[in-house]
Amino acid sequence: MDQLLQQIEEYKKEITAYSSTDEKSVEEFRIKYLGTKGIVKAIMGEMKNVPNDRKKEFGQVLNEFKTFTEQKFESLKSQATDHRQSGSEIDLTLPGDPVPLGSRHPISLVKNKIISIFQRLGFAVAEGPEIEDDWHNFTALNLPEHHPARDMQDTFYIQQNPDWLLRTHTSNTQIREMEKGKLPIRVICPGRVYRNETVSARSHCFFHQVEGLYIDENVSFADLKQTLYFFVKEMYGEDVKVRFRPSYFPFTEPSAEMDVSCFICGGKGCRICKYSGWVEILGCGMVHPNVLENCKIDSDKYTGFAFGMGIERPALIKYDINDIRLFSENDVRFLRQFTSAV
Ligand code: PHE
Repeated sequence: MDQLLQQIEEYKKEITAYSSTDEKSVEEFRIKYLGTKGIVKAIMGEMKNVPNDRKKEFGQVLNEFKTFTEQKFESLKSQATDHRQSGSEIDLTLPGDPVPLGSRHPISLVKNKIISIFQRLGFAVAEGPEIEDDWHNFTALNLPEHHPARDMQDTFYIQQNPDWLLRTHTSNTQIREMEKGKLPIRVICPGRVYRNETVSARSHCFFHQVEGLYIDENVSFADLKQTLYFFVKEMYGEDVKVRFRPSYFPFTEPSAEMDVSCFICGGKGCRICKYSGWVEILGCGMVHPNVLENCKIDSDKYTGFAFGMGIERPALIKYDINDIRLFSENDVRFLRQFTSAV
């Protein structure tokens, strides 16, 4: 009899551990424990072998075991039904719920286009810090302290350490590349830059640039012109015309501004080109020997060219946007309009 009680305890453990949401195994459970040839019935059949003085006690255990097993069966059954019903609600033939997709920022669209053109010419992408020291942003670029040309690029300084500032151009990255001492160099440097300027519809205190640098033996102004001419044809179309105007940058000599024939009116004259037929798109020149020497590059052996362009202005023109501030306000009504733009 005690052996029988022990066996009932074992079955109870087994039943407690039983879990399934599959209707077939729930039915197997019923047959095994509650069926006419099942375990509960079999144990009941043992009643006749129990001595009379313990029949009452055994009867109670048996009843409790039966209810326990039936309750477990009921709960297994309802779990299986729930499972089947929730399963049937999924109609796999329906189209899925649309996933809200973001869009590329117009600045990124123009930036990526510029990068991809130069990558095809073998330029690698280099990135540098936006918080920079005076050396990499100015001094190494032939802009020593008190040089009047620093006025053209006033910026924000960090109070605790006036040697740190927010970079005014991505030329800092070019210096960092040259300092690595691995030649030749052929990089483009995209990134955000800062200037202490009054914020208006046409200018902001931060904007984006892509600058480029090519240093090797025998690099000439002809290479510069040809590279940039290839770039603008890819960017603005085969028919684009270019002109170079002499200019001044402390880090290049000679220096030039490059204009392209207006890609809105084709050079006839319109509001965008201020009726001149030309749009200024970048500054460029041959890297000044002082800059090469500052980066420990032999300026008798090596020459190079550099160029730099803003991204905001071409983006404003391309997408006919009338306020530069829209680029940084993060208004989704503005940004959403670029979902399918390229
Ligand atoms: N660094 C210059 C600027 O931000 C652009 C430039 C780069 C000009 C390289 C010439 C050569 O204005």
